Amino acid sequence: MKTIEIKNLLQHIGKRQTRNLVNLTLGRPLRMSNFKSMTLDWDDVKIANEWLSNRSSWKDETVVSHYEAEFSQWNGSKYAFAFMAARVALSACIYALDLQPEDEVILPGYTCVVVPNAFKWAGVKTVYCDIELDTYGLDINQIESKITSKTRAILLHHLYGIVCRDYEAILDLAKRYKLKVIEDCAHTTGAEYRGRKVGNFGDVAIYSSERSKVFNTIQGGVAVTNDNVLGKRLKEYYEQAPYPDELFIDNQLSNILLEFYQFKHPQSWCIGDIYYCFNSHKKLFSTTEQEEKGIRPAYYGQKMPAPIAALGLNQLKKIDYYSKCRRNNSQTWEKWCQENGYKKPLVIDASVPVYLFYPVIVESEIKKEVKWWGFKNFNVSVGDWFNTHIYPVPGRIPGCKNADIAVEQCINFPTLNHMCKFPGF
Ligand SMILES: Cc1ncc(COP(=O)(O)O)c(C=O)c1O
Repeated sequence: MKTIEIKNLLQHIGKRQTRNLVNLTLGRPLRMSNFKSMTLDWDDVKIANEWLSNRSSWKDETVVSHYEAEFSQWNGSKYAFAFMAARVALSACIYALDLQPEDEVILPGYTCVVVPNAFKWAGVKTVYCDIELDTYGLDINQIESKITSKTRAILLHHLYGIVCRDYEAILDLAKRYKLKVIEDCAHTTGAEYRGRKVGNFGDVAIYSSERSKVFNTIQGGVAVTNDNVLGKRLKEYYEQAPYPDELFIDNQLSNILLEFYQFKHPQSWCIGDIYYCFNSHKKLFSTTEQEEKGIRPAYYGQKMPAPIAALGLNQLKKIDYYSKCRRNNSQTWEKWCQENGYKKPLVIDASVPVYLFYPVIVESEIKKEVKWWGFKNFNVSVGDWFNTHIYPVPGRIPGCKNADIAVEQCINFPTLNHMCKFPGF
């Protein structure tokens, strides 16, 4: 092991164990709610171990087709295709919509860098628009002024598990201007509007099963559509996409174990660190430095292989249960907002949120030290996404005043904890 790796390992363990010591001294529980991997249980560990010890069926396409069929049925979408990330699913959507170099797409100036990257790599120009601060979605009042003769599509997102405030208005506007709508549901798998899952109202949609999302396959994404022509085009992209290599699949499966022992295991406060010591070299990061710099990684564009689809199938069985837990737990933060004079996120009429996180605008001083503040006040890990406009890339998007406020002041309370376990596990 290199000296720098040992230093990082010691720093990581030192931080976690200092926290444990403070909790012990204060008589508080040792375990702390985290954002990541709270939907993993022993059954997922068992599945990961089984696939790790049986490599002969890693190329079994029937498992993947089964996952796609289950997802499309559960989601109420006609076509679903599984990729190694939602960002790849977005690239498939860009292909399906036939967006060409020099075409323009309107998207929120408050998102993750992998979203504009997918357009950049297709040569499509990104035009940013401000968000509203009720649900952190695109602000309808800003969109029209950004439409030009080159605009072909609008990407709307439902952030933090909440259905965006101007959903219908944006869909209507797009129809009036004959623009395609891409729904970014990476944070909002399973949320509903008027009795249907979000993602079924636009032309195409993407969902993420990355480790910090509503359901978890460490990395993974799905593209859906209800349109036959777009379904055919998605399939074309899908069929030419390669599978990841064996080492990558091995790491993905190992990360299920790593995440479970670190965050969800009943004795994660000590077992997590022991497990991490021996396996930290396998840890996968969702967004590479290359991607942060806007460089397309060589392995980009892969579809989901059987072992990851098997985990997806298992997570899909639990997603409604865990989303219900998230809604229940959100009431704690709702009450906190009421008692402390902070504004609650808006739940629009006829919508059911899944509260990936519970976002609240607080004083910027709190956001600056949110990790310590969350630990001190609630013994939970409070997040600071997105703390830049195009997270995690530094810099701001001019003319997005609400996004400026969200970047400076929005914090995210966790909505699942280790006490939530799927019945039977
Ligand atoms: C708003 C948003 N859209 C899309 C994505 C991409 O998801 P994935 O990591 O599965 O590519 C992310 C990633 O965090 C995101 O935050």
